[in-house]
Amino acid sequence: MERRHRSPETPESCFNLFHMCHCVLAVEMDATEFRRRGKEMVDFIADYMENIEQRQVYPDVEPGYLRCLIPQEAPEDPDTYDDVVKDIERVIMPGVTHWHSPYFYAYFPTASSYPAMLADMLSGAIGCIGFSWAASPACTELETVMLDWLGKMLNLPEDFIAGTTGKGGGVIQGSASEATLVALLAARRRKVQLILADQPERTEAEIISKLVAYTSDQAHSSVERAGLIGGMRMRKVPTDEKFAIGGEALRRIIEEDKKAGLIPSFFCATLGTTPSCAFDHITELGPICNAENMWMHIDAAYAGSSFICPEFRPLLDGIEFADSFNFNPHKWLLVNFDCSTMWVKRRSDLIGAFKMDPVYLKHDHQESGLVTDYRHWQIPLGRRFRSLKMWFVFRMYGVKGLQDYIRQHVRLAKEFENMVRNDPRFEISADVVLGLVCFRLKGSNELNETLLKRLNSARRIHLVPCQLAGNFVLRFAVCARTTESRHVKVAWHHIRELASELLLEQGH
Ligand SMILES: Cc1ncc(COP(=O)(O)O)c(C=O)c1O
Repeated sequence: MERRHRSPETPESCFNLFHMCHCVLAVEMDATEFRRRGKEMVDFIADYMENIEQRQVYPDVEPGYLRCLIPQEAPEDPDTYDDVVKDIERVIMPGVTHWHSPYFYAYFPTASSYPAMLADMLSGAIGCIGFSWAASPACTELETVMLDWLGKMLNLPEDFIAGTTGKGGGVIQGSASEATLVALLAARRRKVQLILADQPERTEAEIISKLVAYTSDQAHSSVERAGLIGGMRMRKVPTDEKFAIGGEALRRIIEEDKKAGLIPSFFCATLGTTPSCAFDHITELGPICNAENMWMHIDAAYAGSSFICPEFRPLLDGIEFADSFNFNPHKWLLVNFDCSTMWVKRRSDLIGAFKMDPVYLKHDHQESGLVTDYRHWQIPLGRRFRSLKMWFVFRMYGVKGLQDYIRQHVRLAKEFENMVRNDPRFEISADVVLGLVCFRLKGSNELNETLLKRLNSARRIHLVPCQLAGNFVLRFAVCARTTESRHVKVAWHHIRELASELLLEQGH
C-alpha cells in the first residue's frame, strides 16, 4: 500500500503542530486498496486451505522463536502492507500448528468452512457490539432465531426454543467453559434464593459455603474450573467401565454429602467426554437432579453436533431433565471459532442471576417482553455478530449437507478403528461412537508413550494422548473438513511403521 499521509489543511497552527509532533496523523487503507488487498487475501486463504496438506502439520520451532523475528517495539512510522504480508510466511507460518491439515488428529476438531469465514468478514465489517437489542437489533434477533433453528435441528424439547412466546431459548457463548460457568453461577443464585425464601434467617455466605456441585471424573477440566471460579466445591463422581456415570454413582455421593450437611446444587453431565467420547447416562441422572432440585447442565462440546443426525439423536435422550445444554458448533459443525451454543429452559434463571441495568445501557423496548438483551445471559458485556456465521453455514450446507459431513467423519473413524482391530499388536481402548478412536499398543504405558513421542517428533501426523483406567492411550480424532480415507490410510501406515520399528528395538 502506498503511504498516504493525510496532509494538514490550512490553519497555520495546525500545520505547525503537526510538524512539531513529528507525527503521522493517519495512514489509511482506502476502499480501493481494500478491494485489491481483500481479493489477494482471499486468494492467499484459498491457497493456504487447498495446499495445507503439503505443510508440516506441527511446527519445528522452540519456545520464544517469534520474539527475535520481529522488532521489540511497534513501528513509529507505518510499515507497508506488502511488508506485513511478507512476514506471514517468515514469522507466522513457521509457528503454526495446522489444525485444518488432514494429518491433524489431535484434541477434537475445530470447525472451518468458507461460508463461515465470509460471514466472519461481514461481522468484522459491521463491527457492532450487540449487548442489547437496541445496540444492533439484527445481531440479537438473528442469534435468537439461529439458536431456534439449531435447537430444532437437534430436536430439543420445546422448552428450550424461544419462538415468540417461549420461556427458554438459546445464546451464543464464546466457549463451552463459559457456558458451564454461566450455568453454575445461575444454579448458585437459584439455590440461594430458594433457600432464603424459605429460611430468611440464614445468610447468603453461609448457604454458599455449603453448596456442592458434581461432575464425572472424566469431565473436561473446565467444569472443575467453573467450580473454582464460581466458589462451589466440586465432587467428581466415579465412572463405570465405559467411562460414564450412571444414576447409582451420583445418588450415593449425594446421600453422603447431604448427611454431611452439604447442599447439592449443580450437576454437569458430559455427552462425549474429552478423553474417550463417553456418554453419561442422562436418562438415569436427570430424574435424580430434578428430585434434588439441582441444576442439571449438559456439556456436549464435541458430540453435540452429531445430534443433528437422527441415528445419533438417541444419545441426547434425557435432555428433557436438563436446565441447560451446550455444545460447540465451532468444533464439529463447520462454524469457525468462536460459537458455543447454549440453551436454557427458563431464561429468567440466567437473567435473574446476572442482571445489571445501568442507565447508559437502557433502551425503550427492554421491558416490552418482545426483545432479548443478551448481556444478561453472559459474563462479558460486549459480543460480536456471531450468528451470521451460523446463518451462512446452515443455509449453504443445509441440514443434509451438515449431516453428511458428520457421517463422513464417523465413517473415517470407523475405518481407522477397523484397521487397528485388524492388527493384533494393537487394542481399542474405548467404544468408538463418533469421530474419535482411542487405541494403544498392547503393552506398557512407557511403550505407548515412546510411540506417541516418535509419532509427534516425525511431524507427519499429530496426535495427543489420554489416560483411561490407568492406561496411556493414543487418541485419533478425525478433525479436518478435508480429511479423506487416503489420509487416514497414510496415517495408519505411518503409525504401524513406527510401531514396528519400536517393537523390533525392544526385541518383540
Ligand atoms: C467435553 C468438553 N467440554 C468442554 C471443552 C472446552 O471447550 P471450550 O474450549 O469451548 O471451552 C472441551 C474441549 O475440547 C470438551 O471436549
